[in-house]
Amino acid sequence: MSLEEAHARWRESTPAHGDRSAYKDVWDRQARDSEVAWLAVAGHTDEATLDLTAVGTIDILRSTVGIRPDDVILEIGCGIGRVGKPLSAQCLHWFGADISGAMLGHARARLKARPNATLVELSTVGLQEFPRDAFDLVYCTIVFMHLLEWDRYRYVEEAFRVLRPGGRCYFDNYPLDSEHGWKVFQESAGYPLDRRPAHMSMSSTREELRIYLAKAGFADVVVHDLQNGMIAATGRKPESGSSA
Ligand SMILES: C[S@@+](CC[C@H](N)C(=O)[O-])C[C@H]1O[C@@H](n2cnc3c(N)ncnc32)[C@H](O)[C@@H]1O
Repeated sequence: MSLEEAHARWRESTPAHGDRSAYKDVWDRQARDSEVAWLAVAGHTDEATLDLTAVGTIDILRSTVGIRPDDVILEIGCGIGRVGKPLSAQCLHWFGADISGAMLGHARARLKARPNATLVELSTVGLQEFPRDAFDLVYCTIVFMHLLEWDRYRYVEEAFRVLRPGGRCYFDNYPLDSEHGWKVFQESAGYPLDRRPAHMSMSSTREELRIYLAKAGFADVVVHDLQNGMIAATGRKPESGSSA
């Protein structure tokens, strides 16, 4: 299938003017076959490019929050396991959580040779499937732009709960106050209301991300300007951090 054909199928499977918070339905449709899922997650359909972009994401994690061989890691919104496939070879155990069972179906096929990778379907927004103090690192990449602000914060709060004291977190989005961010904003604003896709990207500001992490209780909060034009907020759960 050509890239153009795959794009056409992707557009077909995108409900117009859907309810943005109907995340399961919206993202199961985005994963109805592998071409559509690969496009929705990474903007292309070939495995080699997917692996290359994953290396880029891992480099960003390494330079912002670090990756250690004995880390137990959770990715929120892991999609088809783009990052988990190579990252699981560099840590003790990698967990991928996603609200879309269909996305996880693709991830399961891609990660079947990885004994230390576990996939978990989330029943709703939040990490209710995981116990407190379970992870050394929780990260969430290319997901916040698809979530409502309250749901973004819910995942930050939940990351705090499931991280061990001393554990690190990472959340990214693209910033409104950049040339790229403003271009996306203007293009999206130009969509007729009745054709606006439910998953349409929405930016963050540095201050928004900083506030979420600080309010959730994280220490050492830093907002990084990444080379790819995105911003990422990182923090550490204090050693005395309670996760009631
Ligand atoms: C653009 S993809 C990114 C996937 C992966 N993080 C990556 O970088 O390859 C967005 C992912 O977020 C998931 N997602 C959307 N809404 C979600 C929610 N409320 N909770 C958890 N995951 C969600 C989608 O199912 C999809 O797999």
